[in-house]
Amino acid sequence: MSAPKKLYIKTYGCQMNVYDSERMAESLGGQGYVETQSPDDADMILLNTCHIREKAAEKVYSELGRFKGLKAAKPDLKIGVAGCVAQAEGAEIMRRQPLVDLVVGPQSYHRLPAMEARAGTGEKVLDTDFPEEDKFEKLARRPKAKRGPTAFLTVQEGCDKFCAFCVVPYTRGAEVSRPVDRVLREAEDLVERGVREITLLGQNVNAYHGAGPEGDMTLAQLIWQLNEIDGLERIRFTTSHPNDMMDDLIEAHGTCDKLMPYLHLPVQAGSDKILKRMNRAHTADSYLRLIERIRAARPDILISGDFIVGFPEETEADFQATLDLVEAVKYGTAYSFKYSTRPGTPAAERAQVDPAEADDRLQRLQALLTRQQREVQDSMVGREVGVLFERPGRFAGQMVGKSDYLHAVHVADCDAAPGDLRRVRIVSSGTNSLAGELIG
Ligand code: SAH
Ligand code: SF4
Ligand code: F3S
Repeated sequence: MSAPKKLYIKTYGCQMNVYDSERMAESLGGQGYVETQSPDDADMILLNTCHIREKAAEKVYSELGRFKGLKAAKPDLKIGVAGCVAQAEGAEIMRRQPLVDLVVGPQSYHRLPAMEARAGTGEKVLDTDFPEEDKFEKLARRPKAKRGPTAFLTVQEGCDKFCAFCVVPYTRGAEVSRPVDRVLREAEDLVERGVREITLLGQNVNAYHGAGPEGDMTLAQLIWQLNEIDGLERIRFTTSHPNDMMDDLIEAHGTCDKLMPYLHLPVQAGSDKILKRMNRAHTADSYLRLIERIRAARPDILISGDFIVGFPEETEADFQATLDLVEAVKYGTAYSFKYSTRPGTPAAERAQVDPAEADDRLQRLQALLTRQQREVQDSMVGREVGVLFERPGRFAGQMVGKSDYLHAVHVADCDAAPGDLRRVRIVSSGTNSLAGELIG
């Protein structure tokens, strides 16, 4: 038997790309590839890319440029671009960077083994179709290797919302949900391999409507099915759109034991004028009322958000409305971005905000969000929480895990093993993590 070929995958962007990279590596395993952590000894390099902001997309080209020497030294080395830049730019990537052999869009990963074989004969290969078949079903099944305690599982892909700033509806296509039985089978398989916590993924995961035995199921109904799996201890989901936050999902946050008290619910902005121009189809007030209902169902839930500052035509007063909304919600975590013009999206045509002004707003928003996050984290001190341990810490005897609220927690002199879910009393709060002690 010949020595296995080596595959180096670098992943950019969202958790869905992390999941896709795992699945691509597994399917190329069938072609005799094993993963390597360095591009230097690779026979194939795959960049799984993100197109969400200009910087993310540009990074890909500078990274590709760095592989020139490797390719010169090893002419058989195959270089591929996958993900959302592949979908958005297609053959343009090969024109701009001729050392690229293969370009594959996010909906065509199941065709990757065949593409790799063709690239092996010296052909340039491109596939950015949106085929009808379920790519995950066609991808090689995960080998039964043991895994860490947490895993992602994509249940829904694509987006029909068309926010005026966003490329996702173009790079990932229309909203599609995977059937319930396939999700359950995959979840059971993950649990058999040691997974204790599953995060269900989708660009609009709460719009999930997968085919079940008696018609379509909502995300909440899927979560209740997953709740039945022995050995699965925790369920999370991300990312949700406020308009798809249905009553049964809100209720599940109050009644489903395995569903964790954490919700990522991006709002983007606090000014109704800007929300309208963003095509978000909700107002600041409807978002705040939704948060109230969610907190009524689960008072201790930690709310996380995404924000864009400097959207076209955003005034200082509009920005102030975002700060007011943040003050009203009190976020436990948040991701904030300066608006980045994306070619082909409606907002790209509108009057842009002065970049220095946008920088200044981003700094002010981040200062407020950082203060809030710290306050929420500090408020955990003295409380008892569940911690799912993941790995040893830096010090002898120390273990690190995540709380129910997704805070990193360090425990000294800890007899828990990775995969153990234990009760912990939080004793102190540091810059990015909590410290606690085991109870009992
Ligand atoms: N599907 C998810 C995530 C979309 S991308 C959702 O709807 O929430 C993740 C985040 O990137 C978005 O929530 C938004 O805050 C940010 N984003 C998207 N397009 C952007 C752009 N053109 N410029 C700056 N930030 C952007
Ligand atoms: Fe993009 Fe809006 Fe869809 Fe989220 S809901 S993926 S921000 S278009
Ligand atoms: Fe980026 Fe595509 Fe995810 S654009 S954020 S990798 S869906």
